[in-house]
Amino acid sequence: MAARMWSSALTLCLLISALPGGEPAQPDPQYMMLVPTLIHGGQDAKLCFLLSHLNESISLSVTLELTNQNITLLDKEVTETDEDNCIAFQTPNIETSEVGFFALQADGDTLHFTKRRNVLLKLQQHLAFIQTDKAIYKPGQKVQFRIASLDENFLPVSEHFPVVFIENPQGNRIAQWLDVETHKGIVQESFQLTAEPIQGTYKVIASRNRGQRVEHVFSVEEYVLPKYEVQVKIPPILTIEDQEIQVTVCGKYTYGKPVLGLIKVRVCRKFQQSYTYCPGEEDAVCEELEHADDLA
Ligand SMILES: *[C@@H]1O[C@H](CO)[C@@H](O)[C@H](O)[C@H]1NC(C)=O
Ligand SMILES: *[C@@H]1O[C@H](CO)[C@@H](O)[C@H](O)[C@H]1NC(C)=O
Repeated sequence: MAARMWSSALTLCLLISALPGGEPAQPDPQYMMLVPTLIHGGQDAKLCFLLSHLNESISLSVTLELTNQNITLLDKEVTETDEDNCIAFQTPNIETSEVGFFALQADGDTLHFTKRRNVLLKLQQHLAFIQTDKAIYKPGQKVQFRIASLDENFLPVSEHFPVVFIENPQGNRIAQWLDVETHKGIVQESFQLTAEPIQGTYKVIASRNRGQRVEHVFSVEEYVLPKYEVQVKIPPILTIEDQEIQVTVCGKYTYGKPVLGLIKVRVCRKFQQSYTYCPGEEDAVCEELEHADDLA
């Protein structure tokens, strides 16, 4: 743990200080503190310090000073020297990013020192998005949706949404869930559409802490499946040499029965060279055929 802390030196700043005065025989008391220069709100963080050549016991306190609060990270009596100490702490949840200070204060009978170091406390920006199981729903169907939250490294995170709701095409809130939390990054909910809902575009909206929103749209439509399908097969290329053309048209109801119908075939040869301005030649040469039959 300590090794990781020390190796990420880029984000840390080092404070080394010799305390004033001292007898020549004994080295001066020294302290060293490693503090992060950037921390995220609502996360685990750590700072370490090392005290050496202490000649008296001191009371040591480390405070994280923010605009609206001071958080005491450490407040203890230190007698031993050459001991390195790390403090793990939870950073506060914040509304906006801010610059704060780590303040170290040590007081003994003769020793008194203070040091402040600024730290950027950054608002953690999670990504959140909503998915529905379909894009279009029919009346009476169940809309299943999930909300996913990821951190800046795309790892799932828990996020609390004060309210999640569904808005109909008229902008009215027709369902809502309070205090929705993504556990391990995901939360799933569902909503039953009525038999005769307003048709159109609906929205699933999740309001986040700090007033942001994420939304996703889906539509509700009364759609009917096609009752039959028609397959047409024609040759990819015809030449003027061809005497016959093989065209196959096949119509079938979805339950398998053939469809009765009329086939109209129009065969055209278009003039490619429209720059030959001979009158009438802009028109294609076409021939029409009709065939009424059972399309099977
Ligand atoms: C400890 O060291 C400081 C600085 O060197 C000195 O001023 C102080 O008198 C010493 N205290 C004791 C108790 O020796
Ligand atoms: C935090 O501590 C500092 C230094 O002691 C002080 O000036 C400040 O007023 C304190 N802030 C709050 C919000 O208590």
